[in-house]
Amino acid sequence: MLSFEVLRALLATLVLLLSGVFAQQDAPKEWWETTVFYQIYPRSFFDSDDDGVGDVKGITAKLQHLKDTGLEATWLSPIFSSPQVDFGYDVSDFRSVDPLFGTNEDLEELFVEAKKLGIKIILDFVPNHSSNEHEWFIKSEQRIDPYTDYYVWHNGSSDGMQPGERPRVPNNWQSVFRGSAWEWSEERQQYYLHQFAVGQPDLNYRNEKVIEEFDEILRFWMQKGASGFRIDAVNHMFEVEDFRDEPINDPSDPLSYGYTHHIYTKDLLETYDVVAHWREVMDEFVKENDVDTIIMMTEAYANMTMTMKFYESDDGTQQRAHFPFNFVMIEELGDASKASDFKYIIDRWLENMPRGKVTNWVLGNHDKPRVASRYGRQRIDGMALLVMTLPGVAVIYNGEEIGMEDFRDISYEDTKDPQGCNLGPESYKWASRDPQRTPFHWDDTFNAGFSRAPRTWLPMHPLYRQTNLLKQKEADCSTYKFYVDALKLRKERVFTHGEFRSRAYNDDVFGLVRFVRENEQRTLDPFYVVMINFADRTHTVDVSDLYRFSGDSATVRLIGTESRHLVGDVVDPSALVLGPYEAIMIGHADADADDDADADGSAGVKVTTDLLLFVIITCNFLLIK
Ligand code: GLC
Ligand code: MG
Repeated sequence: MLSFEVLRALLATLVLLLSGVFAQQDAPKEWWETTVFYQIYPRSFFDSDDDGVGDVKGITAKLQHLKDTGLEATWLSPIFSSPQVDFGYDVSDFRSVDPLFGTNEDLEELFVEAKKLGIKIILDFVPNHSSNEHEWFIKSEQRIDPYTDYYVWHNGSSDGMQPGERPRVPNNWQSVFRGSAWEWSEERQQYYLHQFAVGQPDLNYRNEKVIEEFDEILRFWMQKGASGFRIDAVNHMFEVEDFRDEPINDPSDPLSYGYTHHIYTKDLLETYDVVAHWREVMDEFVKENDVDTIIMMTEAYANMTMTMKFYESDDGTQQRAHFPFNFVMIEELGDASKASDFKYIIDRWLENMPRGKVTNWVLGNHDKPRVASRYGRQRIDGMALLVMTLPGVAVIYNGEEIGMEDFRDISYEDTKDPQGCNLGPESYKWASRDPQRTPFHWDDTFNAGFSRAPRTWLPMHPLYRQTNLLKQKEADCSTYKFYVDALKLRKERVFTHGEFRSRAYNDDVFGLVRFVRENEQRTLDPFYVVMINFADRTHTVDVSDLYRFSGDSATVRLIGTESRHLVGDVVDPSALVLGPYEAIMIGHADADADDDADADGSAGVKVTTDLLLFVIITCNFLLIK
């Protein structure tokens, strides 16, 4: 019979083995830290009721597309009640869905269906302004308390004013959408501030009540099932209290936003305290309700210093957003960038991040030209591969997964965006954001399968028969399939936990490697090397200049549509040939394929469960005896 001592010794061995395996596993990460956030622009995603405008039920109907693609989180541009002056960014009721998009019940149904598929829904939160049709504004105009001071009101300047004349605008502040940021209210006989459209009056953040209103709005949507918030135009929330003129930046066009330096209307330090406060509201909700982390991502086009402050206070004691959008791929890089520009700009962001924070890379959004148009068609897969394999979170815009292009040739008559319309028929074209907002291309049928309405809210891109989801699903090789494969690989531990290093080989070739350290002999560690050729010339590179691993061959794991290689090809890493615009990922040679299972720790766990089973059976057997 088995003595108690033997049993104890067996158990002790088991514990030791188990702790060994788990010590090797990295700390688990939260759902949002390694995910891809897919932005849905609801007006243009899928139209379920054939009125030419996408809607909430349309998103629910297409959730399977996200699931099939491998996407587990999406952020929605606003679907709240709105006169649609700025296409939903002018909210007239923050707690209700606009009838154009459906009902609150539709949104709740979306939350439920998304949850079933394991997809998190992030809502757009627009605190800087409301619509001028919001009840708060209507009452504020009439000086009805407590709304009287909900907005930024000003008497205007009486300099040189003749009797009976209306006061002049208070100062030289211009709206982002062109023209003075001040609008006269006949009703109240005062000016109100609008940093965006006239229909988007700025809320007064020096009034505590305004902040509290938004606390409640956050709680309302968290209760309904929102997994997070994208905070719109957050750095516009505060303005200096004395309404000083801003210094002149570009005197050539006094009506343009670029006319002044926005040092008194943007990036004010007070902003960060409100952000920290909302973070507390969210964290408190998570704690009280024992739900998954609810995340906050902030939208601010700001310099590095002011952007990084959205993570936490300089001393690290005050927590703010989970991450501020990183717009370097949109703002600082483009079709003319060299590999060294990529390296410099990526490294600079990583070096500036506060310790222990999660990074992110935004590839596109509804405000900026699409990747295909910014970087050129041939670079789509390279850019996708880059954001999918860099450390941290990736943020992509609907349509990028099939490489949709801008439709720049929308006529002035069909143009809807105030940023375009305000410039008039001569100059609207390059300022308008409509080109990147045209409806999604599902297939090659009427209206690309987006809607059966005779007219869609924006015209369809004329080339949808060439570029659409169905066609790309059926093709052997397509940008869509590339995304699907990249999203799968991204789940491996090399990408969720791995270290990162990069290299600019020459003007054209950018390489990066992700690897995890788990072997005495480093060259055996699991890794993936990504090589992107941004130009139309062929290059031969030596991978070991970037990363040294064991063996003299490597296997191709993923290829872009421009690639000359095939997945599974064995290549010589000391002379890797990259064709024009080639984007490629290589890993350990297939001889080591067994080791690959280790990449996500599953092999280690398998060994442990087998061992556990063995110990239990042995114990049972011995005990019975
Ligand atoms: C953000 C939105 C943009 C909108 C603006 C005003 O920048 O992304 O679409 O026009 O805020 O709300
Ligand atoms: Mg509709």
